[in-house]
Amino acid sequence: MANLLKKAYNATWGKYVFAGMYDKFLSHVEKHGLAEKRAEMLAPAYGRTVELGTGTGLNLPHYPDAVTELVLTEPYPPMVAKLEEKVRDNPRRIQLTVAGAERLPFPDASFDTVAAAMILCTVRDPDVVLKEIERVLKPGGQYLFLEHVRNRDPRIARRQDLMQIGWYWFGNECHCNRPTLETLAGSSLEIADLQESKMPGAWEFIEAMAIGRAVRRPDGAPAKEPEKVSVGKAGSNGSPDCGC
Ligand SMILES: C[S@@+](CC[C@H](N)C(=O)[O-])C[C@H]1O[C@@H](n2cnc3c(N)ncnc32)[C@H](O)[C@@H]1O
Repeated sequence: MANLLKKAYNATWGKYVFAGMYDKFLSHVEKHGLAEKRAEMLAPAYGRTVELGTGTGLNLPHYPDAVTELVLTEPYPPMVAKLEEKVRDNPRRIQLTVAGAERLPFPDASFDTVAAAMILCTVRDPDVVLKEIERVLKPGGQYLFLEHVRNRDPRIARRQDLMQIGWYWFGNECHCNRPTLETLAGSSLEIADLQESKMPGAWEFIEAMAIGRAVRRPDGAPAKEPEKVSVGKAGSNGSPDCGC
């Protein structure tokens, strides 16, 4: 039954509204400064680079020339269809791979840079994805992220909790209330740069944003024991799968 519902959702809302109108929905925040934030996030990108959950490809114009090879991944078929159009029109040579971030079809230590914008809010288990990112990064390689996160103001965080169910269905399983920074701090990647700011022009319950760079330790040491870090009530890290 749940599968049938998800299929119907994917064939209707997922295809025509979420993927079909994604760029339109985001155009307001992109114009108000999200596009600049994407450029900031991607400025340090270099070498062999993979993007996870690429969506419709809104990061594509912002990759610097230091990126020598670009691989885009995305698991959701309606998004992949949109992305294919942008890849076709892009002068850069790009490889497009249909894959979820939990299980990337790439060897260990094969990328200098992993980039991802607004995916840890949607994946079923961010811890699993962070481990996979670490696996595909070369020792010393970097993970560039831009995520909307749980608000540090408890009043707004409570509103995020209230909005969560509706937002989950509107945003194709997105969580507006996840404590993503705490999840990242508890991973074995090391946060090297972090900027906490607001998504320009966004609604209050979705505006808290984090942009930064985390690195895989140069010695390629195995994952450390996760730290326990918390701010307020945690958003779900155990949501249903993306159903892609
Ligand atoms: C909010 S959108 C962000 C899209 C794009 N990264 C951007 O910045 O505009 C979330 C994206 O994550 C993708 N996604 C969902 N589940 C995923 C998974 N398990 N692994 C990787 N990406 C996933 C969705 O299909 C969607 O493209």
